[in-house]
Amino acid sequence: MNIHTDRRSILGGLLASPVLSMAPTAGKQKSRGGLSTLTDLDFGCAVQARHVLVDQGLRETILKECDTITPELELKWDFVESDKGQLNLAPAQQLAQIVTDAGKKLHGHALVWHKSTPAWAIEAILDQREWSIVTNFFDAIMPPFSKAIDSWDVVNEPIETGHGEDGLRNSFLMRAFGADYIERAFVDARARASRADLYLNEFGLLDAQSYSSAKRAATLRLLERLVSRGVPIDGLGIQGHLDLKRGPIDQQGVSNFVQKVADLGLKIRISELDVREASPDIPQTNRDQEVANAVAALLDVVLPFDNLTGITCWGISDRYSWLPPLSITAGLNRGLPLDSDLRQKPMYWVLENALRQRKPSKSSDRV
Ligand code: G3I
Repeated sequence: MNIHTDRRSILGGLLASPVLSMAPTAGKQKSRGGLSTLTDLDFGCAVQARHVLVDQGLRETILKECDTITPELELKWDFVESDKGQLNLAPAQQLAQIVTDAGKKLHGHALVWHKSTPAWAIEAILDQREWSIVTNFFDAIMPPFSKAIDSWDVVNEPIETGHGEDGLRNSFLMRAFGADYIERAFVDARARASRADLYLNEFGLLDAQSYSSAKRAATLRLLERLVSRGVPIDGLGIQGHLDLKRGPIDQQGVSNFVQKVADLGLKIRISELDVREASPDIPQTNRDQEVANAVAALLDVVLPFDNLTGITCWGISDRYSWLPPLSITAGLNRGLPLDSDLRQKPMYWVLENALRQRKPSKSSDRV
């Protein structure tokens, strides 16, 4: 078994959560050197370039806290080429400059995603069934960022159970190219990024509900097929969009799933971690603790696995979360590590303790 500790000992439920029990309680805020200095596990967050460019506090915070920054929008096809042939690379390039000047990296998100394909490309693909329409985008976006980006989400959210072939989403990509589009995307990404880590990135893999176990099964079938065919895939991004309305995650199911992914020789990364709150009427301290508890429950499951390469939050400050406000009276959703004034919250401390539990520190001078 490719893990540090006996998983059974960490699956005793939330109250037994090692990450949570080590985290300081609310009000006892710690200030340290940032999450990026703690271990060899990669920590990161998603940001929009326009926010980083105008908000100096945000800029300094991400460079202190993160090893890897994910452009939330700026590498998506509909952002880069909303009109055919008119490339808008400047925002991603500005972000890449800031990040690489600080010795950090970008994570590329996302090469093939049905939702971020511009309308003109969907129409052309369905009409002509020409794979080169897709690889033209790869050619536009991959070479300019070859120094800044060392990992890519190659195919995003291809699974949708309930219909279609092997639980694959019945997207325009399936209709135009069949299930092979996934394999082709990885082969053609590898041809343009020989050393980058190439990920498939999927959501809905964590919950206790049956749709989620069906998604885990379909994802495993796809990964097994890709690996058995020698497709150049390095790992799975497990999106961590937690939702308190959906109840606790299925710790045992997720642990079994991650073990099977590891057995295939693949890495995992927790991508897109954030928490959608559900209780507008309880005190803020309790709200923040609920968020931290949910994150701890996930980290307790994945941290012991050696094939875990990193954790990326989908945003770092509640001010810039894609999630809507919790309610008019409760204000912003508080599902990210820092509040709207960039102050640390219990979710931050849970992450800090999780990272400390991992491998030896990268930095000898941490407090
Ligand atoms: O920037 C325009 C603005 O000029 C315009 O006035 C406004 C009107 O709606 O739209 C703005 O763009 C929006 C953009 O977010 C910036 O806020 C887009 O419409 C909107 O579609 C876009 O949503 C993003 C979404 O992906 C689609 O790209 C979210 O910010 C982003 O958080 C979300 O991220 C996805 C991951 O890529 C994949 N996994 C799920 C995750 C959450 O949905």
